[in-house]
This record gives sequence, C-alpha cells and structure tokens, in this order.
Amino acid sequence: MRNLIPSYIRVPVIFFIIFGLVEYFVDSGAQPAFIKFPIVLLFLTLILIILIAIEAIVGALENVMFQSLSAKEKERFLASKNKTPEFAWIKNTYKKLVGTKPIEEEGELILDHNYDGIKELDNSLPPWWLYSFYASIIFAAIYLVNFHIFGNNSQFDEYAEEYKQAEISIAEYKKNAKDLIDINTVTLLTDPADLNSGKAIFEQNCIACHMADGGGGIGPNLTDNHWILGGGIKNVFKTITEGGRDGKGMISWKQNFKPSEIAQVASYVLSLQGTTPANPKAPEGDVWVDESVSAPAVETTTTEVDSLSAAPAK
Ligand code: HEC
Repeated sequence: MRNLIPSYIRVPVIFFIIFGLVEYFVDSGAQPAFIKFPIVLLFLTLILIILIAIEAIVGALENVMFQSLSAKEKERFLASKNKTPEFAWIKNTYKKLVGTKPIEEEGELILDHNYDGIKELDNSLPPWWLYSFYASIIFAAIYLVNFHIFGNNSQFDEYAEEYKQAEISIAEYKKNAKDLIDINTVTLLTDPADLNSGKAIFEQNCIACHMADGGGGIGPNLTDNHWILGGGIKNVFKTITEGGRDGKGMISWKQNFKPSEIAQVASYVLSLQGTTPANPKAPEGDVWVDESVSAPAVETTTTEVDSLSAAPAK
C-alpha cells in the first residue's frame, strides 16, 4: 500500500491536510491563521521537517534491509516495488523531459578532449528546456506581429479601455450612492420628485421659522434674491448642512437629514426664488450674484431691478 503512493505526493498531501485542519480549528477571524499567529507558521514548518525526516528514515531503513537480502529476495523485493504502474507514466514523462542518457551510455557522449584527466560530456539539451525555448520564439513572433506590427490592443489601448471602464463604474457608483454629494458636488435638482421630497422636508421642519411659502419669520425670507449666507445651491446646501451664524437660530441639519435630502430641500428652497409670499419679510443680506455662471453684467442689473420691484410689494 505504501509503495503505491510515492513520497513526493505523500508528504505534501499529509502536510496540506494538517494545514487545513489548523486553519479550520484555529479561530483567526478573516485572516488566515498562519498570518495572524506566526507561531502557527513555525508549527507547520516543524511538521514539514518531521514528515520529510520520516520519509528519509524509512528510505534509509529500506535500504539497509535491502542490502541484507539475498540476491533472490532482492529480486522479489524490486519486483514488488515496481508494481506501481499508476505513476509509471509520471516517471516516463519526467525521463523524457529531462532527456539524460543512462550512465552506461555515457561513452557515446564523451568528447575526445581530455585535460589532465578531466573529460567533458556532450549531453544534448534537455527536451523540456529546448521545447520551452522554441515555444518562447513562437510566442515572441506572434506577440511582435500582433502588438507591434498590427498594433492590436496595445498597452495604451488597454489603459484607455480600463480608464473608460473605471469612469463608467464611478458614474454608476455615484448614481447609486446619492449621499456621496457634498458642497463641492451638489447640483440644483429640478426633478419634480426631488422637489416634492424637498417640499415635504421643508414643511415638516422649516416652516416654523421660514413660513410655508418661505416668506420668513424668525428666519429670513427665502424667496427674494437677498442672502445673508450666500445664495446658489452650494451656499444654501452649506447653510442647511452646517447651520447659520452662531446664536441666530438656524441650526445644522446634518444630523437630521442625509446629504441627498439636504440637496432636495435646498433645491426646493431655491425653487421658491421669485415667488411672492403672502407676508414677505424684508430682504436681509446681499443680492446674490452667481459668479460660477459668469453672468454678463446685464443680468445682474435685471435681478437688482427685480429685487427693487419686489421690495415695495410687501
Ligand atoms: C428655529 C428657526 C429656524 C428653523 C426651524 C429653520 N431655520 Fe433656516 N434660518 C433661521 C435663521 C434665524 C436664519 C438666519 C441665520 C443667520 O442669520 O445666520 C436661517 C437661515 C436660513 C437660510 C439662509 C438664508 C440666507 O439669507 O442666507 C436657509 C437657506 C435656511 N435657513 C433654510 C432652512 C431650512 C431648509 C430649514 C429646514 C430644514 C430651516 N432653515 C429651518 C431659522 C430657522
């Protein structure tokens, strides 16, 4: 039985069974046990050394026993040992790949020069080496023609392709991770669904101070184009997230709402711009000019006119 499995298979198999058991029984969380507890590595190395040592001892004992046998018994022993046809093909393939000549045939290989008794053998190249070499030449030819002559899928193309893929996945990720928005990335939402959600938030949380129509009360009028803390989606988003000036009554809402919800209510607040509330509070702060749009001077004046015409309306 023992002869059926050669030692170069027996040792690794036993080793990996022990390795598997260790990993199974040692609780090391997400990390492999031998990384979390380096002592395990030492243990496994010891096991490996012991396994190899056992093989070596068994081999040596067998050898001693073999030498003590009579010629006939030796023959019988060898016959029983060679009854391992399962692995004969491995041995044969190995022999073929290494391509060495048996020592008896060495005479054919010997070169006829002789330096002070040192002779040289003219072994042919081992087939495994030779065929790998040929394979590498064929590979190189195909590679050269494909990538350098036809320019198929060069490294640059591959890079560009991967870059494009990455951008698509980032866009996809951002679409699904709405709450990734912050003051730098927030944009004015115009989708009626978003504005409706914003309106709902506004009516539940903000009208006590800003009135349902944004006309203002404790808080300033949100319908005019005068802003204490700056207009535009970014500033409004920031005011709602971080709150107003200390002691004025406008708290930070970032504990209450997700960034996506703040963007909705901020967009809703901005949608109130230019509406006429029932009881508007006088404008506070400065007229907000959106510099990022780089509007021409004309537009600034028209908004100013608007604010003036809005003021007497109260
Ligand atoms: C307790 C009263 C109160 C509540 C509730 C309140 N605010 Fe305010 N809000 C204020 C005050 C007061 C200011 C002025 C802050 C300042 O002067 O720094 C303000 C300022 C603002 C501004 C900036 C206005 C400007 O002119 O720059 C925005 C936008 C705003 N609030 C939106 C909201 C939203 C949206 C909510 C609901 C989520 C809300 N507020 C809830 C009192 C309130």
